[in-house]
Amino acid sequence: MSGVQLRAGIVGCGGIARAHLTGYQATDGIDVAIVYDTSERAAAALAEAAGPDVQVTASVEDMISQGVDAVSICTPPGAHLESCIPFVTAGVPILCEKPLERDAERAAQLAAAVRGSDVVFMMAFCHRFHPPVAKLKKLIDCDVLGKPLFFRSIFGGFMDLAMDHRSRPELSGGGTMIDTCSHSVDLFRFLVGEPSAVTCMIGNVGQDLPVEDCCALIVNASGRTLGEIAASHSIPVGTNELAWYGTKGTAILEYWDKLYYQVQGEGWIHVDCEPAPDRFVREIRHFVQCIRARVTPSVTVDDGLAASRIISAAYESAANGMAVEVSSSDQLRV
Ligand SMILES: NC(=O)c1ccc[n+]([C@@H]2O[C@H](COP(=O)([O-])OP(=O)(O)OC[C@H]3O[C@@H](n4cnc5c(N)ncnc54)[C@H](O)[C@@H]3O)[C@@H](O)[C@H]2O)c1
Repeated sequence: MSGVQLRAGIVGCGGIARAHLTGYQATDGIDVAIVYDTSERAAAALAEAAGPDVQVTASVEDMISQGVDAVSICTPPGAHLESCIPFVTAGVPILCEKPLERDAERAAQLAAAVRGSDVVFMMAFCHRFHPPVAKLKKLIDCDVLGKPLFFRSIFGGFMDLAMDHRSRPELSGGGTMIDTCSHSVDLFRFLVGEPSAVTCMIGNVGQDLPVEDCCALIVNASGRTLGEIAASHSIPVGTNELAWYGTKGTAILEYWDKLYYQVQGEGWIHVDCEPAPDRFVREIRHFVQCIRARVTPSVTVDDGLAASRIISAAYESAANGMAVEVSSSDQLRV
């Protein structure tokens, strides 16, 4: 496929589809050619933003028959399984938004279908591509900070959850925790390791909805590393922070642009992190490189399933008030 201009499709034309469109527009060798949404208005608006030759199609099957070399799945989580399967069957490379599905059982069904095929499938855990996170990962991999002891992450800000799929559990699978902490638990796995157990509380501090608007999790990686993860959609003045404490040193991300670290006995060092291109562009470029090279992306369906299992265990803990072990086998406990 090298040298050929690739045709990308986008399924689900709401908020995050705009970031995918920008990512494809900033990537050589691929154009968004075709879009689909159950809302004709949403599809038409994205097509207009994408350019004069972009087609609006009537179904995913029609998109496949028109011909696509890659697809972004940007529907609400509860529609990821049915949206992905026709592309898995057709062998069209897929970039699927997080979480993998609305619950761990449906996530496992999608993972089984992907594993049973040879389709290129990438999970859109975009924060792995965020420049300060990528720099922190290099520090960790080069053993500058030693072994992980403690991890802290907060994603806090305001979003009116009543306005979209996030307040409808049949589409979202839950509120702030599945929406935001899918990223946080993936960052824990990326930067620390596999959680073995999770304890969690969820609540509604600012929005009275059938889903939670805040959550706090403690994750435990085999008793060796603890992680504290929090998120809320009801904080008017939001902050995003991440801290990684190791046996040799500590790193602090003031999330959007600053990474500092200190090795024991030395002063704080500020690491320059080029903000552009942003995480979405880097993610799409990685996806396109993998399609061209026919290699497995760095973020796989197994990463998506692992995050879904951690979130599922966290909801179980919130319901029963106990620590819950995280299943690592294909056999789901639920
Ligand atoms: N990576 C990130 O940082 C990030 C940020 C925001 C959202 N997301 C994820 O992206 C996905 C979409 O979120 P959003 O904020 O764009 O939602 P949204 O509600 O703004 O848009 C979803 C769109 O999908 C359409 N849709 C619903 N069911 C469909 C179906 N079966 N087929 C085709 N279209 C369908 C809706 O009409 C809507 O236009 C979710 O999985 C969400 O968790 C990821």
